[in-house]
Amino acid sequence: MTKLVYLHEPGVLCNLARRYGLNEIYTYTGRILIAINPFAKLPHLYDMHMMEQYKGIQFGELSPHVFAIADASYRAMVSEECSQSILVSGESGAGKTETTKLIMRYLTFVGGRATGDIRSVEQQVLESNPLLEAFGNARTVRNDNSSRFGKFVEIQFDKSGRISGAAIRTYLLERSRVVQVSESERNYHCFYQLCASGQDADKYKLSHPKNFNYLNQSHMYELEGVSDAEQYLKTRRAMDIVGISFSHQEAIFRTVAAILHLGNIEFSPGKEFDSSVVKDEKSKFHLQMAADFLMVDESLLLSTLCFRTIKTPEGNIVKAVDNSAAAISRDALAKTAC
Ligand SMILES: Nc1ncnc2c1ncn2[C@@H]1O[C@H](COP(=O)(O)OP(=O)(O)OP(=O)(O)O)[C@@H](O)[C@H]1O
Ligand SMILES: [Mg+2]
Repeated sequence: MTKLVYLHEPGVLCNLARRYGLNEIYTYTGRILIAINPFAKLPHLYDMHMMEQYKGIQFGELSPHVFAIADASYRAMVSEECSQSILVSGESGAGKTETTKLIMRYLTFVGGRATGDIRSVEQQVLESNPLLEAFGNARTVRNDNSSRFGKFVEIQFDKSGRISGAAIRTYLLERSRVVQVSESERNYHCFYQLCASGQDADKYKLSHPKNFNYLNQSHMYELEGVSDAEQYLKTRRAMDIVGISFSHQEAIFRTVAAILHLGNIEFSPGKEFDSSVVKDEKSKFHLQMAADFLMVDESLLLSTLCFRTIKTPEGNIVKAVDNSAAAISRDALAKTAC
């Protein structure tokens, strides 16, 4: 890009468009890599052969590529013995998550021990992706797999340039999505995965997503080309590899199920002014399931939703709330549980 005769916006856009037309999705602007989403699988761009090619080459020697950025950063870390960072930014659907995964794949390739061990550090680093995506990604109108949180991935290397560990921090999950989904969008993938999990779904008394208020506000249940049942197995596998114990995994999915049951507890006005009761038998069933899976006392859960405690200097005052306030408390609890 810096070699363009006219470095202005139309020139830049024209250059990018022409390259894109030739399937050249990557372009450099100095040390910055511009990636344009191909919206098509380009396996030849990312295979083992490609990674071998970019390993240790001078930056700029080969065609622009995300592996070249990852390699330059790795080499700089090794030679300067100093931490490096790669910033991936762009609008929703631009390809940040996919790009980040490619960078991680390349870094585990050059910095891995190649033991073939399924629970090696590099494998754990890679498997963190499907795991985070199950619980933090959802379909939006712009992207079937939109990350609804920010992420900082730190990969640590030892003196010899081998991966020794990783730390991933996530920020600002979009919690409102748990209880409210717009048309054409979906809630977090994990809910649909658990509903499609067969025996596990039975165990948690779950069925088709259309039966759950937190999922049926939009009529989008399936993603094109994605099987939620298969994804569930992948999430479970990722949890195993990352080292989440079986009992912890059970606790996580119990909570996921409890959130769906919570969402189906409906309230109607109680006998007294400004009070509420559970609407019907169906809601009572879901209340019981939510309490069971959250491992809390059912009547205590109900009173937490239908009453409010006001603290005063003279002591606590317990006040009943109307059915719409009870529903708001229910949603607040569901958002906190995630
Ligand atoms: N390099 C690529 N090769 C092939 N397909 C890609 C590539 N990058 C992105 N895509 C396609 O575009 C979709 C959206 O990309 P991605 O999820 O990475 O966007 P994002 O920038 O992380 O968006 P959001 O901000 O919503 O999380 C992917 O699911 C994939 O189908
Ligand atoms: Mg993303």
